[in-house]
Amino acid sequence: MSVAPVPELEDCAAACAEHLHAARDVLLVSHIDADGLTSAAIAATALRRAEIPFETVFKKQLDTDEIAAVAATDHETVLFTDFGSGQLDIITDYAAGEFTPVVADHHQPADASTEFHLNPLLFGINGASELSGAGASYVLARALENGNTTETADNRDLASLAVVGAVGDMQATSGELIGANRAIVEEGVDAGVLTERVDLALYGRQTRPLPKLLEYSSDVFVPGISNSERGSVGFLSDLDLDLKRDGEWRTWVDLTDGERQTVASALVQRALERGVSPDKIDDLVGTTYTLPAESVGTELRDASEFSTLLNATARYDRADVGLAVCLGDRDEALDRARHLLRNHRRNLSEGLQWVTNEGVTREEHVQWFDAGTHIRETIVGIVAGMALGADDVDHACPIIAFASKNDDETKVSARATHGLVQQGLDLSQVMGEASSAVDGAGGGHDIAAGATIPVNRAREFIEHADRIVGEQIE
Ligand code: C5P
Ligand code: C5P
Ligand code: C5P
Ligand code: ZN
Repeated sequence: MSVAPVPELEDCAAACAEHLHAARDVLLVSHIDADGLTSAAIAATALRRAEIPFETVFKKQLDTDEIAAVAATDHETVLFTDFGSGQLDIITDYAAGEFTPVVADHHQPADASTEFHLNPLLFGINGASELSGAGASYVLARALENGNTTETADNRDLASLAVVGAVGDMQATSGELIGANRAIVEEGVDAGVLTERVDLALYGRQTRPLPKLLEYSSDVFVPGISNSERGSVGFLSDLDLDLKRDGEWRTWVDLTDGERQTVASALVQRALERGVSPDKIDDLVGTTYTLPAESVGTELRDASEFSTLLNATARYDRADVGLAVCLGDRDEALDRARHLLRNHRRNLSEGLQWVTNEGVTREEHVQWFDAGTHIRETIVGIVAGMALGADDVDHACPIIAFASKNDDETKVSARATHGLVQQGLDLSQVMGEASSAVDGAGGGHDIAAGATIPVNRAREFIEHADRIVGEQIE
């Protein structure tokens, strides 16, 4: 079976792999989020197994300065994962004579080309829903495995990390991975590193006590249960089930299939009674991806919890911790990551609270908020996405968030829904054009994108963005 629905993607991967095999050494440069970390872990493992010497670094974003810094190192081959396509114009400027770039990415490419460019969008595969950066890295890893000498014959065991990356980038459509991602899931299942099942789609099935699982389910708001500890405890206590053990609430994964069925049916019933829309009720159930080698009840066993754990490291300048966890450290790095996760969760919940309290400003075609220094710029996009799912925010309107980056720059994050994208919205273009108009830079995906702009240009940026969105979805 082949990961790529189009053979050209694999031909491209083979050409990239051939160049890497011939390289004296490689500088691996990756992005600081769950998809970037898993991309790096996949690429690093594949390079190690192929006995290609390499060094790994992480960057918050690639810009002219960062690319110049990369060019200043003495590496002749640079492998960019989970970014690089959007900055290909700058990279190719520098590359001449300084280094040969190999790019495994899924972002909207800049107007430039290079020989070793592995991006699903170049092959008619959707980069926001069918293949992530980790997926592109996995395709590259499969192409690299011909050089494997020891340890394992093939790199299919890396499929689990590719799925964690895709889930971390929220690539699931209607609750499941599709397209090339789907093919990776199948390879992982065949290799014994993944299992999938249709299950309750709430975050925290492995680690949260049942009442917390229900209470914190912000994605689908069930009145009387979501955000209500008393409501969640009451709901569970009314079921004719023994949901505690030794006085402690059990977790979802600890329940039998029959018990899960009972809780899920009752939850759907309650949502129906409380007038939750059928669309939203559908979102309560989805495909879940499990890493069977990891211990039951740990973050690492569930792809969604694993990806959040990784975001909790990389978005707080500790990509080294997340990478170590991906590469198998279950002691010191995992402890550290869990500590960071508590902090990340608190920040997300406080951030969302802040947005709900302050409210958003409505323009004609977009809504926005400026978090200033209240929300860390590396997570303001996640908060914007969560806000778009919140009860009192209009889902039918893209959301744009600003946060302070430093004295000179403001970070912009934008999020939308599949419905808006179907109507023609492309946030990557909106962020790209609106940021250029105010001397900034940006890009990303149709459904989620970002930019960096000079301080004090946010108002002007919103005017451009509002106009462009209006043109796209008229
Ligand atoms: O840089 P990168 O591609 O990894 O960023 C993707 C971002 O877009 C993630 O923060 C993810 O949460 C967001 N996203 C989203 N909805 C989607 C796809 C991606 O919010 N359907
Ligand atoms: O952090 P990450 O981008 O992986 O979060 C993805 C989704 O997981 C969020 O939109 C949120 O709904 C959910 N989440 C949560 N509680 C957390 C972290 C994430 O419900 N502590
Ligand atoms: O940072 P945030 O999660 O909002 O990023 C959303 C998407 O926009 C990511 O895919 C990211 O790589 C992209 N982005 C970009 N240029 C920026 C900021 C974000 O291409 N300056
Ligand atoms: Zn990505």
